[in-house]
Amino acid sequence: MEKEIKINFEVIESYDHLTDIEKTLFDKAQAIRQQAYAPYSNFLVGCAVLLENGEIITGSNQENAAYPSGLCAERTTIFWTSANYPDVKIKKLFVIGAPKEALTSTPIPPCGACRQSILEYEAKQKEGIEIYFASLNGEIYKTKSIRDLLPFSFDSSFL
Ligand code: THU
Repeated sequence: MEKEIKINFEVIESYDHLTDIEKTLFDKAQAIRQQAYAPYSNFLVGCAVLLENGEIITGSNQENAAYPSGLCAERTTIFWTSANYPDVKIKKLFVIGAPKEALTSTPIPPCGACRQSILEYEAKQKEGIEIYFASLNGEIYKTKSIRDLLPFSFDSSFL
């Protein structure tokens, strides 16, 4: 028997169609992206999260000569956020990725490990995090929760 899982996402046509706070998050993710430490892949990723107290935290990918020791922009950002604001909810997470020297427009989704990590914080705060992902220009994809990007998800309920 074959079954289907439905996921939902919204396509936002371009930067101009974002709300003011979304534009701010896009701009901050884009700005921090340019300071990413990615000398091995030359793929620069920036992330910005909006907290319920209105603060915005940003981060970028951090690579390492021992490749697996590096970390994606999303986890750099949410780990720092949870370490410093353990009781403050994350409302939105914006991620922008593109090669250093290319003007790409395909939205770059969070990798599998980042999805799993974001899911952990949704569970911790008992509330979804709106996820936005984009490239430098073009469409922006939005989901209401990381669960839409991770339909079969492993969480603490199985332990
Ligand atoms: N990267 C991120 O920062 N986030 C993702 O979700 C995908 C990949 C980084 C990791 C590595 O530094 C570079 O992009 C190439 O994979």
